[in-house]
Amino acid sequence: MEEQKRELNVEQLLKILKHSSKYAVLFNQYRSAILEVETKLRVLDNELSLDNEKNPIEVIHTRLKSPESILTKLQRKQLPVTFESMQEHILDIAGIRVICDFIDNIYKLEKLLTDQTDITVLNRKDYIRNPKPNGYRSLHLIVSVPVFLASGKRDVPVEVQFRTMAMDFWASLEHKLNYKKDIPGDCDIPERLKKCAEAAAELDLEMMDIRQVIDSCAVKE
Ligand code: GTP
Ligand code: MG
Repeated sequence: MEEQKRELNVEQLLKILKHSSKYAVLFNQYRSAILEVETKLRVLDNELSLDNEKNPIEVIHTRLKSPESILTKLQRKQLPVTFESMQEHILDIAGIRVICDFIDNIYKLEKLLTDQTDITVLNRKDYIRNPKPNGYRSLHLIVSVPVFLASGKRDVPVEVQFRTMAMDFWASLEHKLNYKKDIPGDCDIPERLKKCAEAAAELDLEMMDIRQVIDSCAVKE
């Protein structure tokens, strides 16, 4: 991954990238940053479950962006294919997806995570309050976390996506459906998918409401 290699084809670039020792060192930093943020989330989840034995987090998925995806993204954004440009511009190499039970717990976890003194929020996109035009909902954060390595401290960006199970159900199926085949432009599939997203959002609100009714009954008893 060097400036002068920009004319090489993708396969050649990938070969250079994967065999570079810099790549291994860098990816270890991203892998370590995932461990740090994932641990913070699991610690919070455990603590929040002490009161009522209900964990707000259903499941946590983590992933490191593949070299193929990093190259594609650099090229799509017409950015130089260099390690420096990758570190500066690709902020979702380390990715964590947190699937929660209820919407209010997403914001609770966000606050508890981002209030921590070693976490810096670099970017925040609230697609729950402001869904994408296609209906997509999730809360996206890019946070920077310090990683303490033998070679010193590094501040590493991590993308954290918070979703409810209903949001994840929609996003997973939409991704599968949209990327499998080319959809003809004149069909009503985007509208139908958007309706599904709205139905999922209604379910989230209704479930939260039911929980609130149950909680208030429990208080009265
Ligand atoms: P990328 O270049 O893809 O990272 O997009 P971005 O930098 O504009 O970030 P954004 O926050 O909009 O989306 C990043 C990630 O959110 C994607 O890689 C997906 O995981 C997820 N995402 C965003 N939009 C959609 C969508 O419409 N459908 C689905 N299924 N996932 C989405
Ligand atoms: Mg992305």
